[in-house]
Amino acid sequence: MKLVLYLQSKRRVWWRDHLQSLLPEIDCLLWEDCADKNAIDFAVVWRPPAGGLRQFKNLQAIVSIGAGIDHVLADPELPEIPVIRTTGAELTQRMREYVCLHVLRIHRQCSDMEAAQREQRWRPVITPPATRRQVGIMGLGKLGTDAAIHLTQLGFSVSGWARSKHTIAGVNCYHGEQVPEDFLKRSEILVCLLPLTPDTRNMLNTNLFEQLPSGAGLINAARGEHLVESDLLAALESGQLANATLDVFRKEPLPSTHPFWTHPNIVVTPHNASLIDPLSGGAEIAANLRRFIRGDLIADLTDTKRGY
Ligand code: GLV
Repeated sequence: MKLVLYLQSKRRVWWRDHLQSLLPEIDCLLWEDCADKNAIDFAVVWRPPAGGLRQFKNLQAIVSIGAGIDHVLADPELPEIPVIRTTGAELTQRMREYVCLHVLRIHRQCSDMEAAQREQRWRPVITPPATRRQVGIMGLGKLGTDAAIHLTQLGFSVSGWARSKHTIAGVNCYHGEQVPEDFLKRSEILVCLLPLTPDTRNMLNTNLFEQLPSGAGLINAARGEHLVESDLLAALESGQLANATLDVFRKEPLPSTHPFWTHPNIVVTPHNASLIDPLSGGAEIAANLRRFIRGDLIADLTDTKRGY
């Protein structure tokens, strides 16, 4: 069996060798080294070129090197075959760290204290305890559910919203097609961990911001396309939002002239909230491919019609 790897990173040779060592029974090739496209069974990809995967006529499955599959589904000529995402305990752990870190930063007004330090001003900011801070999580998949549980353990009052019904101990769960007003009303810090689909694209917009408590904080660790950038700038300008922490952007790397870089109330992180670590991620990919070959159940198999 043969596998082709598409990744723009300089580390792709390392990735190929790593996958080869984990899957000795499969011949692992780089995209550019693949002469006989008809001989390829599997494609392991991050942001593959549009129309590229269609050329592999005997492809059985596509593996996304990441939890999101939007970068795969973006191809209008995508073959109709199974798409498997890559998750795993470490990805969840990293996202947990990111969400807890930045919720705590906003909660304790760290940016204000850092600004005061730069001006050598002694400014003891007193914030309420976490038990009196309401956090809302949009998206209750693996990452959102885990973040909600850990924020609850820190004492926060946590609500979550997802399309389908979820029950999470200690978390006030909402569900339905539309984001409920009541959920937004109680989200002093709103965390977006939604998959990117046609329904969730541009969801972080003026209409939604207006339903949050005045002075709310926003964290987007999902996809840049969830956010209407000009609406965020306007909400920060009016004070409806106090601050935003953004890990993902419409264009990555974020262009050097982009206003987010220098905005006093925006924290920019370079899409590293929770990247797949090649060691554990490679092991997850190998395990999922073996499950696929055996015909076993794969928890990471996605529903391409649904988009996640
Ligand atoms: C990262 O953005 C991922 O989809 O895992």
